[in-house]
Amino acid sequence: MITDRQLFLLHLGQTSKDPLLLEITRAEGVYMYGPTGQKYLDLISGVSVSNTGHRHPRVIAAIREQTEAYLHLMVYGELVQSPQIKYARLIVSLLPVSLDNCYFVNSGSEAVEGALKLAKKYTGRKKIIYFSNAYHGSTHGALSVQGSDKYRESFKPLLPETQQIGFNDFSALGAIDDSTACVIIEPVQSEAGIINPAEGFLEEIRQRCNDKGALLIFDEVQTGFGRTGSLFAIDRFGVIPDILVLAKALGGGMPLGAFISSREIMSALIEEPQLGHITTFGGHPVCCAAGLASLSVILEEKLTEQCEAKSAVFKRELRHKLIKEIRGEGLLLAVRLADPEYVRYAIKNAPRHGIILDYFLFCDDAFRIAPPLTISNDEINTACRQIISLLDDAMKNRKK
Ligand SMILES: Cc1ncc(COP(=O)(O)O)c(C=O)c1O
Repeated sequence: MITDRQLFLLHLGQTSKDPLLLEITRAEGVYMYGPTGQKYLDLISGVSVSNTGHRHPRVIAAIREQTEAYLHLMVYGELVQSPQIKYARLIVSLLPVSLDNCYFVNSGSEAVEGALKLAKKYTGRKKIIYFSNAYHGSTHGALSVQGSDKYRESFKPLLPETQQIGFNDFSALGAIDDSTACVIIEPVQSEAGIINPAEGFLEEIRQRCNDKGALLIFDEVQTGFGRTGSLFAIDRFGVIPDILVLAKALGGGMPLGAFISSREIMSALIEEPQLGHITTFGGHPVCCAAGLASLSVILEEKLTEQCEAKSAVFKRELRHKLIKEIRGEGLLLAVRLADPEYVRYAIKNAPRHGIILDYFLFCDDAFRIAPPLTISNDEINTACRQIISLLDDAMKNRKK
């Protein structure tokens, strides 16, 4: 009989020669389960998505309730749908007053596309500045502002008039000039292996954008919704962008993205041409209902506030000869090992130790830890013990 693994390899488009190939039949809270009851502690959250854990009861209830009312009704932007309104209202109430207008889309990449288009349309300019080792998604526009050639070289030509400058390189900020439509930046670079901005870097970019009339776009697709110990990195750094890009945890486990700006800037999509961005499923009512429930849980259970203390447990308990450094804040951590080969071994063999780990796209000597924010201290202690035994195993294996 043909197995599900074989069917996966036969009929699903593959993106790597060496997929994890774990079969998961159920997920609940911080755990995923295999077909014969194997239990895995999820230390990745589907890459910073499941901030309130898998299948949070309030998220499931909101999804059920919305499916009783309606599913898709119409392309985005025509009908008044209560899940969209309620969710947009809650989100903007948590952001600086200038960010009061939400455009819901389907994913992080689409939100980046929307944000770049909006900046070009509003300013009437074309040049886009982005940073080394930035990751903003995998569509053509998002690839055009990817700060590494590794995953984009084969897909050229990409957008013209884009310019890469060094992350944390103050001397390069002169590239922001009178022809610049926008600067797009992750306030904390995620796929680069969790790199914080140097002190004053975001402020200096903000100032330069103000001076030159360029818009500043923050991509908080990965850092949003409490992951780094503040609801958004904006709160942590006190720098306010003109456009904020959100996705991943925005949908509470359902696909949802958004770009958020002021009503004045957003209105550039209304005319010449009208329908400046069109999306059929953007802001799907079931996804908005799920996201609203998930964000309400984050706020009411004060998950953001607990993030730093939980992070400290990881940093205190994770001690091993192979660990050279643990970077990051909150529950977005990069564990740097002595050598990339150990990283590959650890990620591949983590499930045998009952945990799920993951790579960074642009940092091969570290693995990622980004569990649901609902993880308890006991579960963190278990995770750390499992990681240490995994690293012992990696050392033994290397000696053979
Ligand atoms: C910072 C950042 N921006 C954008 C994206 C793209 O999001 P999506 O995969 O939903 O298109 C990602 C995805 O990993 C991301 O980490």
